[in-house]
Amino acid sequence: MDYRIPEEIVEEVRLHSDIVDTISDYVRLQRKGKNYLGLCPFHAEKTPSFTVTPEKQIFYCFGCHTGGNVFSFLMRKENWSFLETVENLAEKHGIILPEKELSPREKEQQTRRRRWEEIHDWATGYFHEVLLHKPEGEPGRQYFRQRGIDDETIKQFRLGYAPERWEDLLEALSARGVSPQEVVQAGLALEREPSEGRSRGFYDRFRNRVIFAILDSRQRTIGFGGRVLDNSTPKYLNSPETAFFNKGHHLYGMHRAHQGIRERGFALLAEGYMDVIALQKAGFKNAVASLGTALTRDQAKLIRRYTGRVVIVYDSDQAGIQATLRAGEIVRDMGFRVDVLSLSGAKDPDEYLKTFGVEEFNKALAQAEPYIQFKYHVLIKTNPPGSAPEKAELVRELAPDIVKVQSPVEREGYERFLSLELSLTLDKVQEEIAGFDQKTAKKTADKENLRQKQDIYVKNRDNINRCANPSSDEVSVSDGVYRAERFLLRLLLEQLIPLSKFKADLEAGFWKVPYHQQIYTHIEKAPKLDNGALPHMDSDALLSKVAELMLEEIDLSHPERLFQDCLKQIHSLKEEETVEELQARMVDLEKSGDLAGAFALLKEIGERLRSGEN
Ligand code: UTP
Ligand code: MN
Repeated sequence: MDYRIPEEIVEEVRLHSDIVDTISDYVRLQRKGKNYLGLCPFHAEKTPSFTVTPEKQIFYCFGCHTGGNVFSFLMRKENWSFLETVENLAEKHGIILPEKELSPREKEQQTRRRRWEEIHDWATGYFHEVLLHKPEGEPGRQYFRQRGIDDETIKQFRLGYAPERWEDLLEALSARGVSPQEVVQAGLALEREPSEGRSRGFYDRFRNRVIFAILDSRQRTIGFGGRVLDNSTPKYLNSPETAFFNKGHHLYGMHRAHQGIRERGFALLAEGYMDVIALQKAGFKNAVASLGTALTRDQAKLIRRYTGRVVIVYDSDQAGIQATLRAGEIVRDMGFRVDVLSLSGAKDPDEYLKTFGVEEFNKALAQAEPYIQFKYHVLIKTNPPGSAPEKAELVRELAPDIVKVQSPVEREGYERFLSLELSLTLDKVQEEIAGFDQKTAKKTADKENLRQKQDIYVKNRDNINRCANPSSDEVSVSDGVYRAERFLLRLLLEQLIPLSKFKADLEAGFWKVPYHQQIYTHIEKAPKLDNGALPHMDSDALLSKVAELMLEEIDLSHPERLFQDCLKQIHSLKEEETVEELQARMVDLEKSGDLAGAFALLKEIGERLRSGEN
């Protein structure tokens, strides 16, 4: 959708949304000098490093390096898009947004989506109401009671029951003006072809099943799963895939788990609806499940909004083990840290918690093993290595996984693990792994690297600029240039030096630190930043960087002098670089026998050095 709210309205919304007021709804803030301090809502911490600056209307966490303005705070915290954030704030402050200009097709799509959401909302309420209060809900109540699920949990998960009737939901929805065709389109009813004297008709999809409403992170129902009450099949019926419901894009339990995942620092990934409910009920608020499909990258991306660590706790049967290997590979390839919790003595987390209790589960969790070790144990179970060739084969089988490990320390850990397990020397294990087709390994590793390169890590003595992603690349620039670039950006952001003045001194390749270049590009696009408001940026990471920059203690009392000093510093470094480049070229020319050329370069170098001295 190509709807943009006009800049001036966005600005009005921002001016009405004081950052301290807004964040206070989520974080207990305490005044400290010019700033407010609190415990960061984006990572677990015990001493406050989350800073809000009313003067600049920004926040920044010195612990996890997350930062931004009032919009980016809500986008992160509530998982809203920029548009949703502006809409929500506008509503809160009574600001009326202009009507969206939609094409007829978009308009129709939007109407259909709203209707679809409305129908899902009503259906959720209906199933839920039947389960909680209606006489025909008794079988559902009995079922959940027998599985140890109380009313509180039923409400938290909006659980429901579809009675053993053919047209109950159809009737309930019809009372709200929903036609049978619409119920079919929403995936909640089916159409019966006329046959043998029976006329055409409609019937409910879910009958005599307990209902699991699948809620998205905005707490809206987007689909249902319905479980039989006995052992008949199919055990679960799910909403069909439609334009508005794509199973591969959602995780069950996410509507409650996002908070828990952040707090615990990892996601517990289970297989089933019942597992999520049992886990969350037992206090594991970070539990989610893929919806009966193999885990997809899109689902993993949902998790990545909150954490970089996943603990997989799938069913303990053979299918569960295979699914663990597949899911583990997907999240590992996306750069997650992956551990596996294998349950023994129970078929799934739900049963495990019932049989052994929370304490035991916690113990098992503490012993979750890294993905590679888990894979090793799976492999030796099916093929216990006896002979030397079998051991070699096993090492080679794990080699592709091990060569992907970025940390040398971690990699050696696995190599040592294998050497101990297989009674081999570390040397030989390492040799075998290094011998693994380097080329294929490199290819895949490069691809992965590329994905992670979005963030950069600049070495700096002050340590003020460590990014959230320390595993990624390092760009080496001298400390002086790094700082000079930051001072310049700050001068621009605070409008102490006009952009026009700066542009005159700027040439291509001026910025050595890539994200400084990116920030500059943004400033160029939106030079007018009223009272220190941050420009809107599509990239969260970049916005955090800007917030960090704005909070650096820099003496800005003489902007003009600072400006000149920074430019000088950057230019003199450029000069040094050019000289070094010329020297290298001179050596090449000498080697190739072009002495005249080399001499010419030598002269140029001499001149440059002389002019640099004064
Ligand atoms: P399970 O069979 O492990 O179900 O399937 P469960 O959730 O643990 O249920 P209980 O404890 O036996 O009652 C795991 C998940 O796979 C999907 C569902 O999402 C289920 O939660 N599934 C399973 C289906 O979609 N259809 C099926 O027929 C079976
Ligand atoms: Mn199960």
